[in-house]
Amino acid sequence: MHYNNHLNHVLDSTFMEDYMTTKVFGKKIIYYEEVDSTNIIAKNLGKELGHHGVLVLANTQKAGRGRMGREWNSPMNQGIWMSLILKPVIDIRNAPMLTLIAALAVNKGIRKITGLNSSIKWPNDIIINGKKVCGILTEMSTSKEILECIIVGIGINVSNECFEEEIKDKATSLKAEGCKEIDKNQLINEIMLSMEYFYDIFLETQSLKELIEEYNRFLINRNNTVKIIEREETYTGIALGINENGELQVKTQEIIDGERKEVVKEVVAGEVSVRGVYGYI
Ligand code: BTN
Repeated sequence: MHYNNHLNHVLDSTFMEDYMTTKVFGKKIIYYEEVDSTNIIAKNLGKELGHHGVLVLANTQKAGRGRMGREWNSPMNQGIWMSLILKPVIDIRNAPMLTLIAALAVNKGIRKITGLNSSIKWPNDIIINGKKVCGILTEMSTSKEILECIIVGIGINVSNECFEEEIKDKATSLKAEGCKEIDKNQLINEIMLSMEYFYDIFLETQSLKELIEEYNRFLINRNNTVKIIEREETYTGIALGINENGELQVKTQEIIDGERKEVVKEVVAGEVSVRGVYGYI
C-alpha cells in the first residue's frame, strides 16, 4: 500500500478502496474533485442495478444540499462530503430509520478517530461542544411504490475555520474543536465499518429495537426540556429518547376533556425541528 502524504487534503479513490476494511460499504468509491451534490450523483447511480454500498465522494460541492431545502456549504479540502448508496429490500416505511443508523455510525467514528466527545441531536446531527459538526441528508428514490435506493448523504466539517454569518453560532469543525490533523481515509473507513455493523443489526428486525440503547446514550438533551417546532404547532416537553421506530418520545402536557394531562408524544422526523429551550441545543 502506498503512502499518501497529503492525506488531510487529497482524497484518492484507488488508495482509499485499498484502505477500506469493510465488507461492502465503501469498497467501491467514486471520487470527484468537484460536483454539484454527491447525493444527486448517488441517486442517479442508485437507480441502476448493482451499486449497493458504493460511496460517492467529492472534494467540494457547488450545490451541497441540506435538510429542509437548505444549502450545505462544502468548501474544497475542508471536509468529508460523501453519499452512500443503499439498495435494501425493506418496507419503504422503514427507510427513514437509516438516517438514525448513519448518525450512530458517524458519532462512533468521530469519537474513535478524534477522541472528541460528540453526541447526536435527534434525528441526525452530530454535535460537539454545543455546535453542529456533521449533517446527514437521507433521500430515497422509488418507482411505483417500490424502493429503488436510499442515499445517505453525510457532510462532516473537518478543518473549516470560518462559517457563513447565519450559521456561525451553531456550526463547527473537528479542527475548531481541537482535533489535530486527521487522516480522512481513516475516519471514512471507521464510519463505513460502523455503518455496516449497525445496518446489519437493523436489517434483522427492520427496526431500531436493538440500537435504542446505543442511540439514547449519545442523545443530546435526553431528559431535558426541548422545544418541538412543527409546521402548525410549537410545544415544549422532556425528551425521553427514541423508540424502536426512531421517533423521539417527548413527555408533554395536553388539555384533554378540559383537564391538563401528561402525555408522551412520538415525534416523527421530517419537517420538524427540535431545539433546546435556550437556543440551538
Ligand atoms: C443537514 O442539513 O444537516 C444535512 C447536510 C447533508 C450534507 C451532505 S454533504 C454530502 C451530501 N451531498 C449533499 O448535497 N448533501 C449531503
